[in-house]
Amino acid sequence: MTRLKSDRRHAVGFTLNGSATTAEAEPRMLLTDFLRHRVGSTGTHVGCEHGVCGACTVTVDGMLTRACLTLAVQIEGCAVRTVEGLAPSPGRLGILQAAFKHHHALQCGFCTAGILMSLDKLLSEQPKPSETEIRDVLSGHLCRCTGYTPIVQAALDAASILERETDTEMTHA
Ligand code: FES
Ligand code: FES
Repeated sequence: MTRLKSDRRHAVGFTLNGSATTAEAEPRMLLTDFLRHRVGSTGTHVGCEHGVCGACTVTVDGMLTRACLTLAVQIEGCAVRTVEGLAPSPGRLGILQAAFKHHHALQCGFCTAGILMSLDKLLSEQPKPSETEIRDVLSGHLCRCTGYTPIVQAALDAASILERETDTEMTHA
């Protein structure tokens, strides 16, 4: 079968969680499908596929991005971070992830990858977020299971742990 010109694959080079990566994508392939099916990075989830639920949230060059609204070819030369990049090493959880586990901030976990990415970004920019600021970030995510309260508690807990760690580092510097 002859492939239409518009279906031809292009090599897309980018960094994924700090590692140089190249995979092929058709011009209209979404970043969600690219990450999951071409790169094998299945931590990024696909819910609504039209920018509403937030399950597919990743960062591209540090900006929170809906992967379902982004074409794979757009990330050529960019730095992409996914939920897999939050773990400090294989088999270990980051502070925010561990707080989610401790507070039972997930049930089915479908929304969790995207929420973790948005809250990680918040904590990197605002180390002492208020509950209102956390809820404001969560307003961009749909969770059908938790009622959000444990997620807010986890984010507040992670913020205070990170603050204590920063204080300890400064004391020992
Ligand atoms: S799958 Fe992207 S916002 Fe829902
Ligand atoms: S934990 Fe199930 S949708 Fe959020």
